[in-house]
Parts: sequence; C-alpha cells; structure tokens
Amino acid sequence: MTRIFSGIQPTHHLHLGNYLGAIRNWVGLQHQYESIFCIVDLHALTVPQDPAALLRATREVAATYIACGIDPVKNIIFHQSGVQEHAMLAWLLGTITPLGWLNRMTQFKEKAGKARDNAGLGLYSYPVLMAADILLYKATHVPVGEDQKQHIELARDIAGAFARQFGKEVFPLPEPQIFGAATRVMSLRDGQKKMSKSDESDYSRINLTDDAETIALKVRKAKTDPEPMPETVEAMAERYEVANLVGIYGALSDMTREQVVARYAGQQLSGFKKDLTDLCVEKIAPISAELNRLMAAPGDIDAILKKGADRASAIAKPVLAETYDAMGLLRV
Ligand code: TYM
Repeated sequence: MTRIFSGIQPTHHLHLGNYLGAIRNWVGLQHQYESIFCIVDLHALTVPQDPAALLRATREVAATYIACGIDPVKNIIFHQSGVQEHAMLAWLLGTITPLGWLNRMTQFKEKAGKARDNAGLGLYSYPVLMAADILLYKATHVPVGEDQKQHIELARDIAGAFARQFGKEVFPLPEPQIFGAATRVMSLRDGQKKMSKSDESDYSRINLTDDAETIALKVRKAKTDPEPMPETVEAMAERYEVANLVGIYGALSDMTREQVVARYAGQQLSGFKKDLTDLCVEKIAPISAELNRLMAAPGDIDAILKKGADRASAIAKPVLAETYDAMGLLRV
C-alpha cells in the first residue's frame, strides 16, 4: 500500500518555493494515493513564535493547501497538535536515536548558529518529531523539496533501528519523493540561498498571499546581472539569479529550462521579467484570492482541521498501540 504524508510549518506566509517544491506535487498525488497533509505547528514551536501569529498561520496554511487545490474531503488535512500521538511517538523514537545522528543534521547547525548552548532541546530533536510524523501513519512516500532529504533519511534510519532493536517491522521505510521542475527555488535577492519563510527580506520571496502589484514589484527588484538573457542553459551556469528566474518561469509554464532559454535567448532581461511577472500573477492571484476568501471564515477552517485530526487519530492510535506492544509498554 502507498500512503503519502507531508507537512509544512505554520511560520509566516507560504511562498513560491513551498508551492513548487511541495504543494503542487501533492495536488497531483492526491488523486492517486491515500494522502495526509499536516500543518506541523509543534515543529514551528522549535523557534520562538508569537502565539497569536502561530494560530493565524496554522489556519492560513490549511487555507493555502485548499486554495492550491488539495481536497480536504478526499485527503486528510490536519494540525499536528490535534493528534497527541505525534509527541508520544517522538518520545519513543527519541529513546532509540543516537545523538551522533542528530549531530549530523545540517538544519540544526544552521538554525542554532554559533550559540549552540542557547538552542532549545526541541530544535535539536526536531528530526525525531518529523520521523514520528511520518512513521505514525506508516507512510511510504514523503513528497518534499530537496532541503528535507536529510530529515527523511533519518526517519528511514530510525525505522530501521526500531526493527533491529525490537525485531518487528512496525514501520515501513519511507521514500522521499523529490520531483518536479523546481525542487529548490532560490531567493530573489541571492541566487545561492534558498527561498525561505524565515529570510528577513520579504523581497527575497514571492508569497502565495501577494497581490499582483506586490508580485510585479518583487520580480522587478529581483537581483540579476547586466547581461542579456543567456543563449544556452550552460551559459547561465554561474548566473545563479538568472538561472533561478528561468527555473521559476519553466516550472510555472510547464516548459523545460532549455525551452525558456530558447524563447528569450539574447533578449533584454527587462522583457523576460515582465513576462515572468504576468506568469506569476496568472498562477498566484487565484490562489491568494481563494486563500483570502477561506480566511474570512476561520470557523470553517477549524471544522476541517478538527475532522482531519479525528481521521488522522483513527490511523495513528493503532500504530502507536503496535509500537507500545513492540517496546513492552503496558496497555490497559
Ligand atoms: P518547511 O515548512 O520548511 O517547507 C515545506 C515544504 O516546502 C519545501 N520547500 C521548498 N521547496 C523548493 N524550494 C524552496 N525554496 C523550498 N522551501 C521549502 C520543503 O522542502 C517542504 O517540502 N521539516 C519540514 C516540515 C515537516 C515535514 C514533516 C515534512 C515536519 N514533519 C513530515 C514532511 C513530512 C519543513 O520544515 O518544511
């Protein structure tokens, strides 16, 4: 059986990277497989959050999933804190995860920075909670952007360690699904940095909440170089910013990078940027309009999340029970 699980942290607005690297792929997968899409609010807490903003962002991510085309009836959409088994399984898996595995995680190193002693325990054990998210549903496939690969490999390692230690294959080894034309969308300000929710400059990303005017401004201001558009894909190997914009254009228009380069070869960047703006507006404006419409009725979003959490719980509870039995925990 194939079961899909993926999630996004409710921190800030979602952006084009989240859309192209993850959500757009989910929209295609939802019709083929049983799919569970989570809003991972417990993960968001691993760095300081304003409580009111977290609550709002949790609803906004749910609304974004739906606005992008995820069907909440066919699939399960829920908030992580609504299913307590996530935290319980994370504890259990933490007991079999060597520190050495966590010490290798690049995200912790990046987020903790130099002041490691001040970083929270939650940030350190973040990948164990993520493994719990996936394994709690016996998910077989995890569609994500490239930056999550290491986390999913760790989830596989933990599932393997569990099987070795307890002699029971409770958890299938989850496969990362990293596909599509834009598995790593870069910042609009720096073509060598990932587009990220946490970048302090809002000009570094196109949010799925941006209106047409904001998108136009961000694309116009996107960093580029003074050269005209490249004649070949090879010619933009070190023109990181231009290569990123070409990649975005290709992903949004379902064209290969070669086709985009051929269309604009030798032309001025300003013309390309104008077309890219139109393309972004065409694809994103309907999402942001639908998202705003959904956000006007937070009660309806809460009802969807409650129903999703109930459905998720119904899958999670027996898996946790199986884990208890394998580990020798009393269930009375
Ligand atoms: P998060 O919230 O950082 O990102 C959500 C999804 O968007 C993808 N993504 C990108 N893809 C392409 N280009 C980018 N610039 C870009 N930025 C983000 C991410 O790869 C991800 O697929 N740890 C996860 C959340 C999580 C999770 C899980 C995911 C928690 N538990 C279980 C899958 C399964 C995260 O922080 O994603």
